Amino acid sequence: MKPRVAILISGRGSNMEALVKAAQARDYPAEVVLVLSNKSEAMGLEIARKLGIEAIAVPARPFGKDREAHERAIDAQLRARNVQIVCLAGYMRLLTPWLVQRWTGRMLNIHPSLLPNFPGLDTHARAIAAGEAEHGCTVHLVTGGMDEGPVLGQARVPVLPGDTEAALAARVLAQEHRLYPAILAELSRKISLPAS
Ligand code: GRF
Repeated sequence: MKPRVAILISGRGSNMEALVKAAQARDYPAEVVLVLSNKSEAMGLEIARKLGIEAIAVPARPFGKDREAHERAIDAQLRARNVQIVCLAGYMRLLTPWLVQRWTGRMLNIHPSLLPNFPGLDTHARAIAAGEAEHGCTVHLVTGGMDEGPVLGQARVPVLPGDTEAALAARVLAQEHRLYPAILAELSRKISLPAS
């Protein structure tokens, strides 16, 4: 049986779309069963539904400052669907140690830089400002710190003379859409499933 995957988003969802489309190929070794957003207005939710994937919002507001309670509600949705791998794809909330621990080794993130360079926000502008010749994206396992954790794969692009932030972001994003499905496939093949 293929591992069951959930994708967590907060916005546009282009990486989610790339993952869902890749997983729709018959020979892809994982199945996307749920797209979940902390924002009910996330554009990605509608995109996922159009692709035939269940898509739900679990907003943080009802939980106030209790981030773990919000994550327990998210986790309950994941468990209810027997999810085995979680892909963060533009999920813009810091996770608590509780959720991270619960999914150790089975939660991935994509970040738009060549980690450990440029963790955090505004990575493209920072790469240009630093005069980098190369930039790119990283898929890594999620651990306690922000944009940390074992790197599973990276894709590189050149920073071209006169690059704007938008031009560089678009060049990196095209690579994100190739890298993430490839790395999820690799991990899915490795994960041994519990006997059912
Ligand atoms: C991507 O650049 C991803 O690397 C970062 O957030 C952005 C999400 O974009 N973590 P999208 O929602 O997948 O289009």
